[in-house]
Amino acid sequence: MPISYENEVDHSLKPSRHPYLNGAWTPNFTEYTATDMEVIGEIPTDIDGVYVRNTENPVQEPIGNYHPFDGDGMLHSMSFRDGKAEYRNRFVRTKGFNAEQEAGEALWTGIANNPKKSKRPGWGAQGHVKDSSSTDVVIHAGKILSTFWQCGDGYQLDPYTLEQEGTVAWAPIDGISAHPKVDEATGELLFFNYSKYPPYQHYGVIDRNNKLIHYTPVPLPGPRLPHDMAFTKNYSILVDLPLFWDPELLKKEQYHARYFPDKPTRFGIIPRYGKAEETIWFEASPTYVLHWMNAYEDGDEIVLDGYFQDEPDPAPLPGLPPAVGKMMANIDINSFQSKLHRWRFNLKTGAVKEQRLDDRPLEFGTFNQKYAGVKSRYLYSVKGEPGWFMFSGIVKHDLDTGESWQLDFGEQRFGSEAPFVPRIDAKDEDDGYLVSFITDMKTNRSECVLIDAKDIAAGPVCRIMLPHRICSGTHATWADGETIRSFQHKD
Ligand SMILES: [Fe+2]
Repeated sequence: MPISYENEVDHSLKPSRHPYLNGAWTPNFTEYTATDMEVIGEIPTDIDGVYVRNTENPVQEPIGNYHPFDGDGMLHSMSFRDGKAEYRNRFVRTKGFNAEQEAGEALWTGIANNPKKSKRPGWGAQGHVKDSSSTDVVIHAGKILSTFWQCGDGYQLDPYTLEQEGTVAWAPIDGISAHPKVDEATGELLFFNYSKYPPYQHYGVIDRNNKLIHYTPVPLPGPRLPHDMAFTKNYSILVDLPLFWDPELLKKEQYHARYFPDKPTRFGIIPRYGKAEETIWFEASPTYVLHWMNAYEDGDEIVLDGYFQDEPDPAPLPGLPPAVGKMMANIDINSFQSKLHRWRFNLKTGAVKEQRLDDRPLEFGTFNQKYAGVKSRYLYSVKGEPGWFMFSGIVKHDLDTGESWQLDFGEQRFGSEAPFVPRIDAKDEDDGYLVSFITDMKTNRSECVLIDAKDIAAGPVCRIMLPHRICSGTHATWADGETIRSFQHKD
């Protein structure tokens, strides 16, 4: 297996018993490139593109308590073409990461600490944390774009080589939230950000050539914590969720997210290039939603699928110090009980209808991105390992018939968000594969798996063994190779 060991970064992280610095979440410090890896099964010849996953992977001993959303961004990629695959992993060389490499220590506290402990002014909606670019990743205009959930810069990397290409020029002063959305039909990127200052939220559109073509406030009633957005062919959907920093504590520079169950969940539906005053607001049952799935227009209605949390303020996991148990519960799908849910918004009458689609706790859904913004039939969600921010399997839904199928990754095997990979010349919506990285704690190895999306229960059709055991991670993306190369040839 030709592996090139590229680099080991300097690290000051000390051994600890922190649940998210051990086991499947043990960070990696070494960057590799690998080709001709051991393969169980055969790498399909009918896919062409790149799978990339982001990971929170800290390298410095934290100042104060570590929260698993604080870690430095590390990207893991597997590119596929002509039945061959190449693996790479690289840190995102953010401004904060580079400064801490130079200092040899952490310079910023995480989200769970007193802001005054940060040694330099920071980033994010909180303003004191490091923009670690470790949350989300998409590929737009031929480049990887990695982002941070509390809003920060957009870091660009080459999808094939993972070479660092700096930050996007178009990022506004309030930064970019995680979960900008690529519309494959137009090549546009839709994004939002949020901050502590009025108007508290903005929304924008980047064209297929990476130019900002629209940017507008979408005001909120105060500082909020939206995490994701959705879009249809003609509209974008932004939210005002009743879980946000306690306003009284915020006045004292204390960041404590609180659930307000007597406030509604509000949805702001804005034409793609619309202004604030064109936003139509709808009210629905209170909840928190981490991730939305597809949305589409159906006559006068907008249909939106997402994961409705039955317990947005979950009880701490038992048997742990309360603060640790609460942190663990807040990122555990089985604690916050996120259920597949459908909202319908009537643009003419203002009516809202809600429908529960499945009663199992699920999250981190993916679907065929060629159907983004228009009606889609199939959805692929992950199951959570009880008590953990780790994924133990995949559930496929046929949203037309209500049928579902399930694949468990196996004992002590934890996957990532599993995007849909269309076959070259695919005939149907589910004609393709799901791709995921798996960390296997029984063998202490990691692999990349490809699963036939038409028959997920049959298990992986191909397993590519990685050169090292990789840290668990969540958000991932897939982009078509021909599209990426069309941008590279333009350079
Ligand atoms: Fe997310």
